[in-house]
Amino acid sequence: MKLCMAANWKMHKTQSQAGETAAELVRILGSNLPQDREVVLIPPFTALHAVSQALTSAPGFVLGAQNFYPADQGAFTGEIGPDMLLDHGCSLALAGHSERRHVLGEDNEFVAQKVRFGLDKGLRMILCIGETLQQRDSGQLETVLHDQLSTALSGLQLSNLESRLLIAYEPVWAIGTGKVAQPEDIAQAHAYVRKELTTLLPQSGQSVPILYGGSVKPDNIAQIIGIDNVNGVLVGGAGLEAESMAQIAMGTAQ
Ligand code: 13P
Repeated sequence: MKLCMAANWKMHKTQSQAGETAAELVRILGSNLPQDREVVLIPPFTALHAVSQALTSAPGFVLGAQNFYPADQGAFTGEIGPDMLLDHGCSLALAGHSERRHVLGEDNEFVAQKVRFGLDKGLRMILCIGETLQQRDSGQLETVLHDQLSTALSGLQLSNLESRLLIAYEPVWAIGTGKVAQPEDIAQAHAYVRKELTTLLPQSGQSVPILYGGSVKPDNIAQIIGIDNVNGVLVGGAGLEAESMAQIAMGTAQ
């Protein structure tokens, strides 16, 4: 399974800034990017074209989108559909990021619709899951992860899911806070996610990559990537600068 090193640029960067950062990252990593990994850049919609241009003939790089509305087309003012993303060179999209769940009110059912619709359209999907501090402190970690995974994945019958689906475990309390989950917390949550995946997806669950997200930085990547069942990372703040994202992308287990 390839390691997936993904940078979610959230609502940051104009198109020229995004294009420049992507081009710089390609320049730094060049042909040094090991074969065992891919780098995914996930800019805002308005910068997809610029980043797509910067990634032309950059092997190992993938363009992703932060969101879409699960319909082909129609009266959905302000929304973007999967065909529009594919048309911009995107091959992957996020669904269920905690900011969309907690700031924009998306629930498990809506996230599930996006995962299924995106996969049907041929996008690779990163399903983001994770608990709030209050849920963790009240002993609901596994219940929350179970509900998020099972709503999105139960009965999914597609072939080759291991190359089309990724999970990102991002504890909400570790996002943008500088608080990294302890290695044992990450190991425990990822082991639980792996167990759930093998139950929900008997054919592919063992091989679906599980990424960790939440205050990943150049100085903790080696430790995080060495944890069992961590198959990559989803980076926010530290992925905004090319130099720092390059160090993360090249990270090897301690
Ligand atoms: P930070 O790396 O800034 O904590 O953000 C993580 C994240 O939300 C990636 O999707």
